[in-house]
Amino acid sequence: MDAYLLDWLNLLLRWAHVVTGIAWIGASFYFVGLDNSLTPPADPKDKAKGIGGELWAVHGGGFYHQQKYPVSPPKLPEHLHWSMWESYSTWLTGFALFAVLYLFNASSFLIDKSVFDWSPAAAIATALGFFVAFWVVYDAICRVFGRGKNGDLVVGALVFGFIVFASWLSCQLFAGRAAFLLVGAMIATTMSGNVFFWIIPGQRKVVAALRAGAPVDPIHGQRGKQRSVHNTYFTLPVIFTMLSNHYGFLYTGPHNWIVLVLLMLAGALIRTSFVMRHKALATGQPVPWRYAVIGTLMLAGLVGATLPASQPVAAAAATSAPVSFAEVQKVVAERCALCHNEQVVSKNVQLHTPELIAKHAQAVFQQTVVLKLMPMNNATQITDAERALIKRWFEAGAPTR
Ligand code: HEC
Repeated sequence: MDAYLLDWLNLLLRWAHVVTGIAWIGASFYFVGLDNSLTPPADPKDKAKGIGGELWAVHGGGFYHQQKYPVSPPKLPEHLHWSMWESYSTWLTGFALFAVLYLFNASSFLIDKSVFDWSPAAAIATALGFFVAFWVVYDAICRVFGRGKNGDLVVGALVFGFIVFASWLSCQLFAGRAAFLLVGAMIATTMSGNVFFWIIPGQRKVVAALRAGAPVDPIHGQRGKQRSVHNTYFTLPVIFTMLSNHYGFLYTGPHNWIVLVLLMLAGALIRTSFVMRHKALATGQPVPWRYAVIGTLMLAGLVGATLPASQPVAAAAATSAPVSFAEVQKVVAERCALCHNEQVVSKNVQLHTPELIAKHAQAVFQQTVVLKLMPMNNATQITDAERALIKRWFEAGAPTR
């Protein structure tokens, strides 16, 4: 019953997280695109008012005329739209989901004893430490190196280096699936931290100064912009890590941290071309697709690099031998029933009777053979031969005799 309710909580949180994430990333992509699409105002009167750029757009049956005041408008209107709850609610639902899935079930989801054998309490504390440490180091890098000449480049290189280190460390400590997600959640936490600690407070200071008729310090706008640009490059890498947990072949290999880093880097490169595309189109320049091409080639390389080793000849020969259900039942009893029985009902799946095995045949095949997600963290040490046995049984129509 508890597991059942936890599954519901998981589903509802996931739903809310995806929806709020769409709202946040949608707004964020929209404003990045808008900012890069601006052209100098056509009307000199607009220029005199302090407008730096404008964009005409048609959408949903109407025409929109966006104008940007780079520092501040001469007079602030009563009503001002703020974008912040998209970000906060994405973080809140995301953290809750992480807690329900990985922290409440640390011993099966966070810990893989073959990777690192430690207590749930230590693993949980370390996972939370990743969130805090990444924010502290990232924030310090931005503050210290962000101002100088080539500041953006130096910050970018240092942050990338730190992400590589965190990815490596995470994969040495946690179950592969959790390690990938943790790195993404850590970066995503920093994205929300940027909104919460810098972008919104900076905007509040500017608005307060304007309302008081005081001069506006442009540093707040510049800082906000720096963090918002970082967020846009973090987006694709983070979304990749959020999806990665469905694909065992990504995180079960010995060098999984390299796969993680390269996939995130490919995402950031692809995003680079799309960010630059707006500016190129607005100014009539060719779109710099080269970044996206490099990113895509990296993905193609990874498809090759993670290719499963081909079956040895002996195993291939055995492929034709018929399988008896008794053999399958023995494998399931040894390798699966531990977590799928009368008492322990992981993900509402029980596998302790022949009828239940038959009922779940498709899922058993998918989880054990195709995705290799089961047994969880291979806790019960299933062998390749046993996976092959399940494959042959399923492909023969999953007979129960
Ligand atoms: C160490 C515990 C453990 C072992 C052993 C184990 N499982 Fe699981 N299984 C889980 C957990 C935990 C989940 C829920 C995973 C999730 O929520 O992503 C699960 C989920 C599943 C699901 C549902 C997947 C889905 O997303 O709908 C199937 C099917 C499954 N396991 C089959 C198996 C089979 C077959 C074996 C043996 C080859 C096996 N499991 C061994 C813990 C285990």
